[in-house]
Amino acid sequence: MAKVKHFLDIQKLDSKTLREILSLGSEIKSGKKSDANKLLAGKTLAMIFEKPSTRTRVSFEVAMIQLGGNAVMMDGKDSQLGRGESAADTARVLSRYVDAIMIRTNDPAKLDELAEYASIPVINGLTDNSHPCQIMADIMTYEEHRGSIAGKKVAWCGDGNNVAASFMHAAGRFGFHLSLALPPELPLDDAVIAWATAEGVDFSISDKADEACSDADLIVTDTWVSMGDKDADKRHKLLSPFQVDERRMALAKTDALFMHCLPAHRDEEVTASVIDGAQSVIWDEAENRLHAQKGILAWCLS
Ligand code: CP
Ligand code: NVA
Repeated sequence: MAKVKHFLDIQKLDSKTLREILSLGSEIKSGKKSDANKLLAGKTLAMIFEKPSTRTRVSFEVAMIQLGGNAVMMDGKDSQLGRGESAADTARVLSRYVDAIMIRTNDPAKLDELAEYASIPVINGLTDNSHPCQIMADIMTYEEHRGSIAGKKVAWCGDGNNVAASFMHAAGRFGFHLSLALPPELPLDDAVIAWATAEGVDFSISDKADEACSDADLIVTDTWVSMGDKDADKRHKLLSPFQVDERRMALAKTDALFMHCLPAHRDEEVTASVIDGAQSVIWDEAENRLHAQKGILAWCLS
């Protein structure tokens, strides 16, 4: 039997496969792929959400519909998973009904357990540790606007969170330099840094947002308070020096882009003038969740 093609994390796939997924997504987006609307005919995706979502939920469901398939929504809290049924048993049952599972969960171990016991592909729709679908859309967006991201400087200003971790994984796989400006109190996971160091990823970490943004080709930030974070006041205090404003954008290259995975909080992590300004590509980025995920679904289910 062929190996199940899970999409669990960027660093778990090689560069060639990631490029293949992005190409598939771009081909479908451009209309070059004939019969794309029948590509996943008869296929069903189960979507499990244990945390809120707008983009991930709608873009996955629309992707399945536009590729000829269907999606079934499972609210984590209203399913037996929310009452303690194991991820392993859930995986074995869903494998009898549907063709792929997408899960958004706080607990990365649940994602891994689903993948271990499912006989169908499992896709990571965000955990507390990573958000790989988002970064695939981000790479697609950067490259549509500016060409290959390889060798470019990407600056991250803010929390060392799940999105930052997936950017580190992407820096390794897509060959860009990642300059992270983080408060020392909100660092990136040790495991992510250890992976990046072992892989020889071109990255730097400091608490100096101006240095990170200087000469950057892309500046990225994210909310100061992620889903599940409880210490909002403390985070606001620690993260306010990392706000992306016009002065910081001006330190970057003149053709630098600004990205944010959304949802955003204007005048917190980014000023309204930047996120709604000429260098911001956030709406293309949000749209590309749909196209990048079509690539992911088509790859997983091919
Ligand atoms: N960026 C992102 O994943 O958005 P949602 O939380 O709305 O899915
Ligand atoms: N870091 C954010 C990303 C939301 C898409 C969170 O986890 O809430």
